[in-house]
Amino acid sequence: MTPLLRQVLSQVDGPDPRLNEIVSALVTHLHAFVEEMRPTEREWLAGLDFLIATGKMCTPDRNEFILLSDMLGLTSAVDDVNHAGPEGMTPSSVEGPFHSPAPPRELGAWISFGPERERAVPTVVHGRVLDCDGTPLAGAVVDLWQANDTGLYDTQDDAQDRGNLRGLFTADAEGRFWFRTIRPSSYPVPTDGTGGRLLKSIGRHPMRPAHLHYRVTAPGYRTLTTHVFLADDPYLESDAAFAVKEELICRPRPRTEGWEMDGPYEEIEFDLKLVPLDWKEGQ
Ligand code: BEZ
Ligand code: FE
Repeated sequence: MTPLLRQVLSQVDGPDPRLNEIVSALVTHLHAFVEEMRPTEREWLAGLDFLIATGKMCTPDRNEFILLSDMLGLTSAVDDVNHAGPEGMTPSSVEGPFHSPAPPRELGAWISFGPERERAVPTVVHGRVLDCDGTPLAGAVVDLWQANDTGLYDTQDDAQDRGNLRGLFTADAEGRFWFRTIRPSSYPVPTDGTGGRLLKSIGRHPMRPAHLHYRVTAPGYRTLTTHVFLADDPYLESDAAFAVKEELICRPRPRTEGWEMDGPYEEIEFDLKLVPLDWKEGQ
Protein backbone atom coordinates (compact mmCIF):
# COMPACT_ATOMS: atom_id res chain seq x y z
CA MET A 1 0.00 0.00 0.00
CA THR A 2 1.35 3.46 -0.89
CA PRO A 3 1.76 6.03 1.94
CA LEU A 4 -0.82 8.18 0.14
CA LEU A 5 -3.47 5.43 0.11
CA ARG A 6 -2.69 4.62 3.76
CA GLN A 7 -3.28 8.26 4.63
CA VAL A 8 -6.60 8.40 2.75
CA LEU A 9 -7.86 5.18 4.36
CA SER A 10 -6.81 6.27 7.84
CA GLN A 11 -9.33 9.10 7.66
CA VAL A 12 -12.33 6.91 6.84
CA ASP A 13 -14.16 6.83 10.15
CA GLY A 14 -17.90 7.44 9.65
CA PRO A 15 -20.78 6.12 11.77
CA ASP A 16 -21.81 3.42 9.26
CA PRO A 17 -19.23 0.56 9.29
CA ARG A 18 -20.49 -0.99 6.05
CA LEU A 19 -20.21 2.35 4.23
CA ASN A 20 -16.67 2.80 5.61
CA GLU A 21 -15.80 -0.66 4.32
CA ILE A 22 -17.29 -0.05 0.87
CA VAL A 23 -15.65 3.36 0.41
CA SER A 24 -12.28 2.02 1.60
CA ALA A 25 -12.42 -0.90 -0.84
CA LEU A 26 -13.48 1.36 -3.70
CA VAL A 27 -10.70 3.88 -3.02
CA THR A 28 -8.17 1.04 -2.72
CA HIS A 29 -9.21 -0.33 -6.14
CA LEU A 30 -9.10 3.14 -7.70
CA HIS A 31 -5.60 3.79 -6.37
CA ALA A 32 -4.49 0.41 -7.71
CA PHE A 33 -5.98 1.40 -11.08
CA VAL A 34 -3.98 4.64 -11.09
CA GLU A 35 -0.79 2.77 -10.14
CA GLU A 36 -1.39 0.27 -12.93
CA MET A 37 -2.52 2.59 -15.72
CA ARG A 38 -0.50 5.69 -14.77
CA PRO A 39 -3.03 7.97 -16.57
CA THR A 40 -1.80 11.34 -17.75
CA GLU A 41 -3.53 14.36 -16.21
CA ARG A 42 -5.29 14.92 -19.51
CA GLU A 43 -6.58 11.33 -19.51
CA TRP A 44 -7.78 11.63 -15.93
CA LEU A 45 -9.67 14.83 -16.74
CA ALA A 46 -11.18 13.18 -19.83
CA GLY A 47 -12.50 10.46 -17.50
CA LEU A 48 -13.98 13.03 -15.13
CA ASP A 49 -15.52 14.94 -18.07
CA PHE A 50 -17.11 11.70 -19.22
CA LEU A 51 -18.72 11.21 -15.77
CA ILE A 52 -19.89 14.85 -15.71
CA ALA A 53 -21.48 14.43 -19.17
CA THR A 54 -23.13 11.21 -17.95
CA GLY A 55 -24.66 13.08 -15.00
CA LYS A 56 -25.96 15.79 -17.33
CA MET A 57 -27.77 13.17 -19.44
CA CYS A 58 -29.80 11.97 -16.43
CA THR A 59 -33.46 12.98 -16.14
CA PRO A 60 -36.36 11.46 -14.16
CA ASP A 61 -37.02 9.24 -17.24
CA ARG A 62 -33.48 8.34 -18.13
CA ASN A 63 -30.53 7.32 -16.00
CA GLU A 64 -27.34 7.13 -18.02
CA PHE A 65 -25.36 5.86 -15.01
CA ILE A 66 -27.61 2.81 -14.78
CA LEU A 67 -27.15 2.26 -18.50
CA LEU A 68 -23.35 2.44 -18.06
CA SER A 69 -23.58 -0.01 -15.18
CA ASP A 70 -25.58 -2.36 -17.43
CA MET A 71 -23.18 -1.97 -20.36
CA LEU A 72 -20.14 -2.76 -18.22
CA GLY A 73 -21.69 -5.92 -16.76
CA LEU A 74 -21.78 -4.36 -13.29
CA THR A 75 -25.56 -4.57 -12.86
CA SER A 76 -25.39 -8.27 -13.73
CA ALA A 77 -22.48 -8.80 -11.34
CA VAL A 78 -24.47 -7.22 -8.48
CA ASP A 79 -27.49 -9.33 -9.48
CA ASP A 80 -25.35 -12.49 -9.37
CA VAL A 81 -24.01 -11.88 -5.87
CA ASN A 82 -27.49 -11.18 -4.50
CA HIS A 83 -29.64 -13.94 -5.98
CA ALA A 84 -28.27 -17.30 -4.97
CA GLY A 85 -31.03 -19.91 -4.64
CA PRO A 86 -31.94 -23.59 -4.83
CA GLU A 87 -31.56 -25.98 -7.78
CA GLY A 88 -34.21 -25.42 -10.38
CA MET A 89 -34.98 -21.80 -9.60
CA THR A 90 -35.39 -19.42 -12.52
CA PRO A 91 -32.31 -17.19 -12.43
CA SER A 92 -32.85 -13.47 -12.11
CA SER A 93 -31.52 -11.01 -14.63
CA VAL A 94 -31.24 -7.21 -14.85
CA GLU A 95 -34.42 -5.11 -14.86
CA GLY A 96 -33.17 -2.57 -17.40
CA PRO A 97 -34.48 0.98 -17.63
CA PHE A 98 -37.86 0.36 -19.27
CA HIS A 99 -40.09 -1.10 -16.59
CA SER A 100 -43.18 1.00 -15.96
CA PRO A 101 -46.58 0.18 -14.40
CA ALA A 102 -48.50 -2.21 -16.66
CA PRO A 103 -52.29 -2.36 -17.08
CA PRO A 104 -53.96 -5.40 -15.48
CA ARG A 105 -55.15 -7.76 -18.22
CA GLU A 106 -57.19 -10.96 -18.48
CA LEU A 107 -55.36 -14.21 -19.18
CA GLY A 108 -55.15 -14.70 -22.95
CA ALA A 109 -55.34 -10.97 -23.72
CA TRP A 110 -53.56 -9.47 -26.68
CA ILE A 111 -50.98 -6.96 -25.48
CA SER A 112 -50.03 -5.58 -28.91
CA PHE A 113 -52.32 -2.77 -30.10
CA GLY A 114 -50.18 -0.90 -32.66
CA PRO A 115 -49.20 -1.52 -36.29
CA GLU A 116 -46.45 -3.88 -35.09
CA ARG A 117 -49.19 -6.50 -34.78
CA GLU A 118 -49.49 -6.57 -38.59
CA ARG A 119 -45.74 -6.57 -39.17
CA ALA A 120 -44.36 -9.06 -36.65
CA VAL A 121 -44.85 -12.78 -36.04
CA PRO A 122 -47.95 -13.39 -33.86
CA THR A 123 -46.89 -15.19 -30.72
CA VAL A 124 -48.55 -16.95 -27.80
CA VAL A 125 -46.58 -16.83 -24.56
CA HIS A 126 -47.56 -19.18 -21.76
CA GLY A 127 -46.15 -20.90 -18.73
CA ARG A 128 -46.66 -21.60 -15.07
CA VAL A 129 -45.48 -19.85 -11.95
CA LEU A 130 -44.13 -22.53 -9.62
CA ASP A 131 -42.18 -23.08 -6.45
CA CYS A 132 -38.76 -24.66 -7.16
CA ASP A 133 -40.25 -28.04 -6.18
CA GLY A 134 -42.95 -27.68 -8.86
CA THR A 135 -45.85 -26.56 -6.63
CA PRO A 136 -48.06 -24.15 -8.63
CA LEU A 137 -48.33 -20.65 -7.20
CA ALA A 138 -51.98 -19.76 -7.77
CA GLY A 139 -52.62 -16.02 -7.94
CA ALA A 140 -48.98 -15.10 -8.64
CA VAL A 141 -48.74 -11.80 -10.48
CA VAL A 142 -46.77 -11.71 -13.73
CA ASP A 143 -45.73 -8.24 -14.90
CA LEU A 144 -44.53 -8.38 -18.48
CA TRP A 145 -42.95 -5.79 -20.76
CA GLN A 146 -41.35 -5.93 -24.19
CA ALA A 147 -40.22 -3.66 -27.03
CA ASN A 148 -42.00 -3.51 -30.40
CA ASP A 149 -40.55 -4.81 -33.65
CA THR A 150 -38.55 -1.59 -34.15
CA GLY A 151 -36.93 -2.03 -30.73
CA LEU A 152 -38.83 0.70 -28.88
CA TYR A 153 -40.79 0.50 -25.63
CA ASP A 154 -44.04 2.49 -25.36
CA THR A 155 -42.31 4.90 -22.95
CA GLN A 156 -39.69 5.77 -25.63
CA ASP A 157 -42.08 6.10 -28.54
CA ASP A 158 -44.83 8.69 -29.00
CA ALA A 159 -46.33 6.50 -31.74
CA GLN A 160 -47.31 3.81 -29.21
CA ASP A 161 -50.12 4.06 -26.68
CA ARG A 162 -48.98 3.78 -23.08
CA GLY A 163 -49.40 0.18 -21.95
CA ASN A 164 -48.71 -1.25 -25.40
CA LEU A 165 -46.74 -4.51 -25.08
CA ARG A 166 -47.16 -4.53 -21.31
CA GLY A 167 -49.49 -6.50 -19.10
CA LEU A 168 -50.11 -7.48 -15.51
CA PHE A 169 -51.51 -11.02 -15.36
CA THR A 170 -52.77 -13.05 -12.41
CA ALA A 171 -51.93 -16.74 -12.67
CA ASP A 172 -54.87 -19.18 -12.38
CA ALA A 173 -55.39 -21.90 -9.74
CA GLU A 174 -52.68 -24.03 -11.40
CA GLY A 175 -50.23 -21.16 -11.61
CA ARG A 176 -50.82 -20.84 -15.35
CA PHE A 177 -50.63 -17.62 -17.32
CA TRP A 178 -50.86 -16.84 -21.03
CA PHE A 179 -51.13 -13.90 -23.39
CA ARG A 180 -50.95 -13.06 -27.07
CA THR A 181 -48.32 -10.74 -28.46
CA ILE A 182 -45.70 -10.34 -31.20
CA ARG A 183 -42.37 -12.12 -31.42
CA PRO A 184 -39.76 -9.98 -29.60
CA SER A 185 -36.95 -8.54 -31.76
CA SER A 186 -33.36 -7.75 -30.96
CA TYR A 187 -32.75 -4.02 -30.54
CA PRO A 188 -30.00 -1.54 -29.61
CA VAL A 189 -29.70 0.03 -26.15
CA PRO A 190 -29.93 3.86 -26.33
CA THR A 191 -26.74 5.10 -28.01
CA ASP A 192 -27.32 8.86 -28.01
CA GLY A 193 -25.57 9.40 -24.66
CA THR A 194 -22.23 8.75 -23.03
CA GLY A 195 -22.98 5.02 -22.86
CA GLY A 196 -23.27 4.91 -26.65
CA ARG A 197 -20.11 7.00 -26.98
CA LEU A 198 -18.22 4.54 -24.79
CA LEU A 199 -19.44 1.50 -26.74
CA LYS A 200 -18.44 3.07 -30.03
CA SER A 201 -15.01 4.09 -28.82
CA ILE A 202 -14.18 0.60 -27.50
CA GLY A 203 -15.50 -1.14 -30.61
CA ARG A 204 -18.64 -2.73 -29.11
CA HIS A 205 -22.06 -3.04 -30.70
CA PRO A 206 -25.14 -1.84 -28.77
CA MET A 207 -27.46 -4.78 -29.53
CA ARG A 208 -29.52 -6.79 -27.07
CA PRO A 209 -30.82 -10.22 -28.11
CA ALA A 210 -34.63 -10.50 -28.48
CA HIS A 211 -36.28 -10.88 -25.08
CA LEU A 212 -39.32 -10.54 -22.86
CA HIS A 213 -39.01 -8.94 -19.42
CA TYR A 214 -40.79 -10.41 -16.39
CA ARG A 215 -41.27 -9.31 -12.82
CA VAL A 216 -43.11 -12.02 -10.89
CA THR A 217 -44.51 -11.71 -7.39
CA ALA A 218 -46.22 -14.18 -5.06
CA PRO A 219 -46.73 -13.90 -1.28
CA GLY A 220 -44.00 -15.71 0.65
CA TYR A 221 -41.62 -15.72 -2.36
CA ARG A 222 -38.79 -13.49 -3.55
CA THR A 223 -39.81 -11.20 -6.37
CA LEU A 224 -38.24 -12.56 -9.53
CA THR A 225 -37.07 -10.02 -12.11
CA THR A 226 -35.82 -11.74 -15.20
CA HIS A 227 -35.79 -12.08 -18.99
CA VAL A 228 -36.72 -14.81 -21.42
CA PHE A 229 -34.46 -14.86 -24.49
CA LEU A 230 -35.10 -16.53 -27.84
CA ALA A 231 -32.81 -19.34 -29.02
CA ASP A 232 -30.68 -18.68 -32.13
CA ASP A 233 -30.62 -14.93 -31.67
CA PRO A 234 -27.30 -13.68 -33.13
CA TYR A 235 -26.68 -11.48 -30.06
CA LEU A 236 -27.06 -14.11 -27.32
CA GLU A 237 -23.28 -14.36 -26.94
CA SER A 238 -22.66 -10.61 -26.95
CA ASP A 239 -25.66 -8.99 -25.18
CA ALA A 240 -24.82 -5.29 -24.65
CA ALA A 241 -26.30 -5.62 -21.12
CA PHE A 242 -24.71 -9.02 -20.25
CA ALA A 243 -28.05 -10.36 -19.00
CA VAL A 244 -28.21 -13.72 -20.81
CA LYS A 245 -28.19 -16.93 -18.78
CA GLU A 246 -28.45 -20.38 -20.34
CA GLU A 247 -31.57 -21.27 -18.31
CA LEU A 248 -33.40 -18.21 -19.67
CA ILE A 249 -33.14 -19.18 -23.35
CA CYS A 250 -36.30 -20.58 -24.93
CA ARG A 251 -36.94 -21.89 -28.46
CA PRO A 252 -40.23 -20.65 -29.98
CA ARG A 253 -42.27 -23.41 -31.64
CA PRO A 254 -44.09 -22.78 -34.96
CA ARG A 255 -47.82 -23.58 -34.66
CA THR A 256 -50.84 -23.49 -36.91
CA GLU A 257 -53.72 -23.97 -34.50
CA GLY A 258 -54.78 -23.72 -30.85
CA TRP A 259 -54.60 -20.96 -28.26
CA GLU A 260 -57.46 -19.03 -29.96
CA MET A 261 -55.15 -17.95 -32.80
CA ASP A 262 -56.12 -17.47 -36.45
CA GLY A 263 -53.39 -18.60 -38.80
CA PRO A 264 -49.76 -19.49 -38.16
CA TYR A 265 -48.03 -18.23 -35.05
CA GLU A 266 -45.20 -19.06 -32.67
CA GLU A 267 -45.50 -20.43 -29.17
CA ILE A 268 -43.14 -19.49 -26.36
CA GLU A 269 -43.55 -21.73 -23.33
CA PHE A 270 -41.57 -20.84 -20.24
CA ASP A 271 -42.17 -21.66 -16.57
CA LEU A 272 -41.05 -19.27 -13.84
CA LYS A 273 -39.79 -20.86 -10.62
CA LEU A 274 -39.70 -18.66 -7.55
CA VAL A 275 -37.56 -18.95 -4.41
CA PRO A 276 -39.25 -18.99 -0.97
CA LEU A 277 -38.43 -15.93 1.15
CA ASP A 278 -37.06 -18.14 3.92
CA TRP A 279 -34.65 -20.05 1.62
CA LYS A 280 -31.11 -20.17 3.06
CA GLU A 281 -27.82 -21.19 1.48
CA GLY A 282 -26.99 -24.84 2.30
CA GLN A 283 -30.66 -25.89 2.58
C1 BEZ B 1 -33.64 -3.55 -21.65
O1 BEZ B 1 -33.70 -4.67 -22.02
O2 BEZ B 1 -34.70 -3.04 -21.58
C2 BEZ B 1 -32.31 -2.92 -21.30
C3 BEZ B 1 -31.52 -3.49 -20.34
C4 BEZ B 1 -30.30 -2.90 -20.03
C5 BEZ B 1 -29.88 -1.75 -20.69
C6 BEZ B 1 -30.69 -1.20 -21.65
C7 BEZ B 1 -31.91 -1.78 -21.98
FE1 FE C 1 -35.57 -4.86 -22.92
